[in-house]
Amino acid sequence: MKKLEQLYEGKAKKVFATDDPGVVMVDYKDDATAFNGLKKGTIEGKGAINNRMTNFLMKMLEKNGVPTHYIEEISDRETLVKKVTIVPLEVIVRNVAAGSLSKRLGLPEGTPLRRTVLEYCYKNDDLGDPMVNEYHIAAMGWADELTMKQIAEYAQKVNKLLIAYFKPLDIDLIDFKLEFGITTDGQLVLADEISPDTCRFWDSKTHEKLDKDRFRRDLGGVEEAYREISHRLLGE
Ligand code: TMP
Ligand code: ASP
Repeated sequence: MKKLEQLYEGKAKKVFATDDPGVVMVDYKDDATAFNGLKKGTIEGKGAINNRMTNFLMKMLEKNGVPTHYIEEISDRETLVKKVTIVPLEVIVRNVAAGSLSKRLGLPEGTPLRRTVLEYCYKNDDLGDPMVNEYHIAAMGWADELTMKQIAEYAQKVNKLLIAYFKPLDIDLIDFKLEFGITTDGQLVLADEISPDTCRFWDSKTHEKLDKDRFRRDLGGVEEAYREISHRLLGE
Protein backbone atom coordinates (compact mmCIF):
# COMPACT_ATOMS: atom_id res chain seq x y z
CA MET A 1 0.00 0.00 0.00
CA LYS A 2 1.32 3.46 -0.94
CA LYS A 3 1.96 6.18 1.68
CA LEU A 4 0.39 9.36 0.26
CA GLU A 5 -0.10 12.89 1.61
CA GLN A 6 -0.05 13.77 5.31
CA LEU A 7 -3.60 14.20 6.63
CA TYR A 8 -2.86 15.27 10.17
CA GLU A 9 -0.05 15.85 12.64
CA GLY A 10 -0.74 15.33 16.32
CA LYS A 11 1.55 15.72 19.32
CA ALA A 12 2.95 12.19 19.12
CA LYS A 13 1.92 10.86 15.70
CA LYS A 14 1.43 11.80 12.08
CA VAL A 15 -1.30 10.29 9.92
CA PHE A 16 -0.94 9.74 6.17
CA ALA A 17 -3.44 8.82 3.47
CA THR A 18 -2.93 5.61 1.48
CA ASP A 19 -4.27 4.48 -1.90
CA ASP A 20 -7.13 2.76 -0.05
CA PRO A 21 -9.71 5.33 1.16
CA GLY A 22 -10.58 3.12 4.15
CA VAL A 23 -6.97 2.84 5.36
CA VAL A 24 -4.47 5.35 6.80
CA MET A 25 -0.86 5.04 7.91
CA VAL A 26 0.17 6.17 11.40
CA ASP A 27 3.76 7.31 11.92
CA TYR A 28 4.90 7.51 15.58
CA LYS A 29 7.24 10.35 16.64
CA ASP A 30 9.71 10.60 19.53
CA ASP A 31 8.16 13.98 20.48
CA ALA A 32 6.60 14.19 23.90
CA THR A 33 4.35 16.88 25.35
CA ALA A 34 2.57 17.34 28.64
CA PHE A 35 0.13 19.79 30.21
CA ASN A 36 -1.71 20.35 26.94
CA GLY A 37 1.48 20.97 24.99
CA LEU A 38 3.04 23.46 27.46
CA LYS A 39 5.95 21.12 28.21
CA LYS A 40 7.79 19.80 25.18
CA GLY A 41 10.60 17.31 24.76
CA THR A 42 11.91 14.24 23.03
CA ILE A 43 12.01 10.71 24.35
CA GLU A 44 14.57 8.86 22.27
CA GLY A 45 13.18 5.60 20.86
CA LYS A 46 9.64 6.28 22.12
CA GLY A 47 8.02 6.23 18.66
CA ALA A 48 9.21 2.73 17.88
CA ILE A 49 8.36 1.41 21.35
CA ASN A 50 4.85 2.91 21.34
CA ASN A 51 4.21 1.63 17.82
CA ARG A 52 5.25 -1.95 18.58
CA MET A 53 3.64 -2.04 22.00
CA THR A 54 0.32 -0.60 20.76
CA ASN A 55 0.18 -3.11 17.91
CA PHE A 56 1.02 -6.03 20.18
CA LEU A 57 -1.72 -5.07 22.65
CA MET A 58 -4.29 -4.27 19.94
CA LYS A 59 -3.74 -7.75 18.47
CA MET A 60 -4.20 -9.32 21.91
CA LEU A 61 -7.41 -7.32 22.50
CA GLU A 62 -8.79 -8.14 19.04
CA LYS A 63 -8.23 -11.87 19.70
CA ASN A 64 -10.22 -11.47 22.88
CA GLY A 65 -13.25 -9.83 21.29
CA VAL A 66 -12.46 -6.09 21.31
CA PRO A 67 -12.60 -4.69 17.75
CA THR A 68 -9.69 -2.34 16.99
CA HIS A 69 -8.46 -0.16 14.11
CA TYR A 70 -5.24 -2.22 13.75
CA ILE A 71 -4.42 -3.69 10.32
CA GLU A 72 -0.68 -4.23 9.86
CA GLU A 73 2.71 -3.07 11.17
CA ILE A 74 4.78 -1.69 8.29
CA SER A 75 8.01 -0.65 9.99
CA ASP A 76 9.44 0.28 13.39
CA ARG A 77 7.32 3.42 13.49
CA GLU A 78 4.64 2.94 10.83
CA THR A 79 1.37 1.04 11.01
CA LEU A 80 -1.66 0.68 8.77
CA VAL A 81 -4.94 1.23 10.56
CA LYS A 82 -8.58 1.56 9.54
CA LYS A 83 -9.56 5.13 8.81
CA VAL A 84 -11.97 6.25 11.52
CA THR A 85 -13.88 9.28 12.65
CA ILE A 86 -12.70 9.70 16.21
CA VAL A 87 -15.41 9.96 18.88
CA PRO A 88 -14.21 13.25 20.43
CA LEU A 89 -13.75 11.77 23.91
CA GLU A 90 -10.81 10.63 26.01
CA VAL A 91 -12.07 7.59 27.90
CA ILE A 92 -10.14 7.29 31.16
CA VAL A 93 -10.14 4.06 33.14
CA ARG A 94 -8.84 4.08 36.73
CA ASN A 95 -8.04 1.21 39.09
CA VAL A 96 -5.94 3.12 41.64
CA ALA A 97 -5.99 6.85 42.48
CA ALA A 98 -3.24 8.86 40.75
CA GLY A 99 -2.73 12.00 38.67
CA SER A 100 -5.66 14.33 38.23
CA LEU A 101 -8.03 12.15 40.30
CA SER A 102 -5.68 12.31 43.29
CA LYS A 103 -5.42 16.06 42.88
CA ARG A 104 -9.15 16.64 42.43
CA LEU A 105 -10.28 14.49 45.39
CA GLY A 106 -7.26 14.94 47.67
CA LEU A 107 -6.40 11.22 47.58
CA PRO A 108 -2.79 10.12 48.05
CA GLU A 109 -1.49 8.51 44.85
CA GLY A 110 -1.72 4.74 45.19
CA THR A 111 -5.02 4.73 47.11
CA PRO A 112 -6.95 1.69 45.87
CA LEU A 113 -10.41 2.35 44.42
CA ARG A 114 -13.35 0.15 45.50
CA ARG A 115 -14.40 -0.19 41.86
CA THR A 116 -13.12 0.76 38.43
CA VAL A 117 -13.79 4.41 37.65
CA LEU A 118 -14.61 5.55 34.10
CA GLU A 119 -14.23 9.23 33.21
CA TYR A 120 -14.81 11.08 29.95
CA CYS A 121 -13.03 14.20 28.73
CA TYR A 122 -14.08 16.20 25.69
CA LYS A 123 -11.14 16.17 23.23
CA ASN A 124 -10.51 19.87 22.70
CA ASP A 125 -7.03 21.33 23.17
CA ASP A 126 -8.27 24.93 23.30
CA LEU A 127 -10.45 24.04 26.28
CA GLY A 128 -7.81 21.75 27.87
CA ASP A 129 -9.86 18.54 27.43
CA PRO A 130 -12.54 19.29 30.07
CA MET A 131 -14.15 16.42 31.97
CA VAL A 132 -17.75 15.78 30.91
CA ASN A 133 -20.44 13.23 31.80
CA GLU A 134 -22.90 11.20 29.75
CA TYR A 135 -25.49 13.98 29.91
CA HIS A 136 -23.08 16.44 28.27
CA ILE A 137 -22.10 13.83 25.67
CA ALA A 138 -25.76 13.17 24.73
CA ALA A 139 -26.69 16.87 24.87
CA MET A 140 -23.83 17.82 22.55
CA GLY A 141 -24.39 14.82 20.26
CA TRP A 142 -20.75 13.66 20.52
CA ALA A 143 -21.95 10.03 20.71
CA ASP A 144 -25.38 8.40 21.05
CA GLU A 145 -26.51 6.38 24.05
CA LEU A 146 -25.97 2.99 22.43
CA THR A 147 -22.44 3.94 21.36
CA MET A 148 -21.64 5.11 24.91
CA LYS A 149 -22.96 1.84 26.35
CA GLN A 150 -20.70 -0.08 23.97
CA ILE A 151 -17.71 2.19 24.74
CA ALA A 152 -18.14 1.62 28.48
CA GLU A 153 -18.37 -2.16 27.94
CA TYR A 154 -15.26 -2.22 25.76
CA ALA A 155 -13.35 -0.01 28.22
CA GLN A 156 -14.13 -2.40 31.10
CA LYS A 157 -13.15 -5.39 28.98
CA VAL A 158 -9.88 -3.76 27.86
CA ASN A 159 -9.14 -3.02 31.53
CA LYS A 160 -9.67 -6.65 32.61
CA LEU A 161 -7.56 -7.99 29.72
CA LEU A 162 -4.71 -5.50 30.25
CA ILE A 163 -4.59 -5.99 34.04
CA ALA A 164 -4.37 -9.76 33.53
CA TYR A 165 -1.72 -9.38 30.82
CA PHE A 166 0.54 -7.05 32.82
CA LYS A 167 0.23 -8.81 36.20
CA PRO A 168 2.66 -11.68 35.46
CA LEU A 169 5.12 -9.08 34.16
CA ASP A 170 5.09 -7.49 37.65
CA ILE A 171 3.38 -4.38 36.33
CA ASP A 172 0.32 -2.80 37.99
CA LEU A 173 -2.02 -0.97 35.62
CA ILE A 174 -2.97 2.13 37.60
CA ASP A 175 -5.00 3.98 34.94
CA PHE A 176 -5.09 4.60 31.20
CA LYS A 177 -6.75 6.55 28.40
CA LEU A 178 -8.55 5.08 25.38
CA GLU A 179 -9.99 6.60 22.23
CA PHE A 180 -12.63 5.07 19.99
CA GLY A 181 -13.54 5.69 16.36
CA ILE A 182 -16.16 4.79 13.78
CA THR A 183 -14.85 3.09 10.62
CA THR A 184 -16.00 4.02 7.11
CA ASP A 185 -18.43 1.07 7.32
CA GLY A 186 -19.89 2.23 10.64
CA GLN A 187 -18.15 -0.09 13.10
CA LEU A 188 -17.13 1.19 16.56
CA VAL A 189 -13.47 0.25 17.15
CA LEU A 190 -10.70 0.96 19.63
CA ALA A 191 -8.28 3.48 18.05
CA ASP A 192 -5.24 5.63 18.94
CA GLU A 193 -2.55 3.95 21.09
CA ILE A 194 -1.92 1.96 24.26
CA SER A 195 1.55 2.84 25.51
CA PRO A 196 3.49 4.39 28.40
CA ASP A 197 2.28 7.75 26.98
CA THR A 198 -1.33 6.83 27.69
CA CYS A 199 -1.13 4.44 30.66
CA ARG A 200 0.27 4.58 34.19
CA PHE A 201 2.38 1.50 34.83
CA TRP A 202 3.91 0.91 38.28
CA ASP A 203 6.33 -1.87 39.12
CA SER A 204 4.34 -4.25 41.36
CA LYS A 205 7.18 -4.73 43.84
CA THR A 206 8.99 -1.37 43.98
CA HIS A 207 6.05 0.84 42.86
CA GLU A 208 8.53 2.59 40.56
CA LYS A 209 6.79 4.58 37.80
CA LEU A 210 7.43 3.09 34.35
CA ASP A 211 5.54 5.58 32.17
CA LYS A 212 5.27 9.15 30.91
CA ASP A 213 4.90 10.53 34.46
CA ARG A 214 8.73 10.35 34.54
CA PHE A 215 8.73 12.97 31.76
CA ARG A 216 5.74 14.99 33.06
CA ARG A 217 7.29 15.27 36.54
CA ASP A 218 11.00 15.43 35.62
CA LEU A 219 11.79 12.22 37.49
CA GLY A 220 14.67 11.21 35.17
CA GLY A 221 15.17 7.76 33.65
CA VAL A 222 12.47 8.41 31.04
CA GLU A 223 14.01 6.41 28.16
CA GLU A 224 14.96 3.62 30.57
CA ALA A 225 11.35 3.33 31.77
CA TYR A 226 10.02 3.01 28.19
CA ARG A 227 12.69 0.42 27.42
CA GLU A 228 11.90 -1.52 30.59
CA ILE A 229 8.20 -1.77 29.76
CA SER A 230 9.01 -2.74 26.18
CA HIS A 231 11.47 -5.37 27.41
CA ARG A 232 8.98 -6.93 29.84
CA LEU A 233 6.13 -6.95 27.31
CA LEU A 234 7.89 -7.71 24.04
CA GLY A 235 11.21 -9.14 25.25
CA GLU A 236 12.98 -6.45 23.17
P1 TMP B 1 -4.79 12.08 34.51
O1 TMP B 1 -4.65 11.47 35.88
O2 TMP B 1 -3.79 13.14 34.22
O3 TMP B 1 -6.20 12.51 34.24
O4 TMP B 1 -4.47 10.91 33.45
C1 TMP B 1 -5.19 9.70 33.46
C2 TMP B 1 -4.59 8.74 32.43
O5 TMP B 1 -4.77 9.22 31.12
C3 TMP B 1 -3.08 8.53 32.59
O6 TMP B 1 -2.81 7.14 32.41
C4 TMP B 1 -2.46 9.32 31.48
C5 TMP B 1 -3.53 9.37 30.42
N1 TMP B 1 -3.57 10.64 29.70
C6 TMP B 1 -3.41 10.66 28.34
O7 TMP B 1 -3.21 9.62 27.71
N2 TMP B 1 -3.48 11.86 27.69
C7 TMP B 1 -3.69 13.03 28.33
O8 TMP B 1 -3.75 14.08 27.68
C8 TMP B 1 -3.87 13.00 29.76
C9 TMP B 1 -4.12 14.27 30.52
C10 TMP B 1 -3.81 11.79 30.39
N1 ASP C 1 0.10 14.64 25.82
C1 ASP C 1 -0.78 15.49 26.53
C2 ASP C 1 -0.59 16.95 26.14
O1 ASP C 1 0.49 17.50 25.95
C3 ASP C 1 -0.78 15.45 28.00
C4 ASP C 1 -0.22 14.30 28.76
O2 ASP C 1 -0.06 13.21 28.26
O3 ASP C 1 0.04 14.54 29.95
O4 ASP C 1 -1.60 17.56 26.05
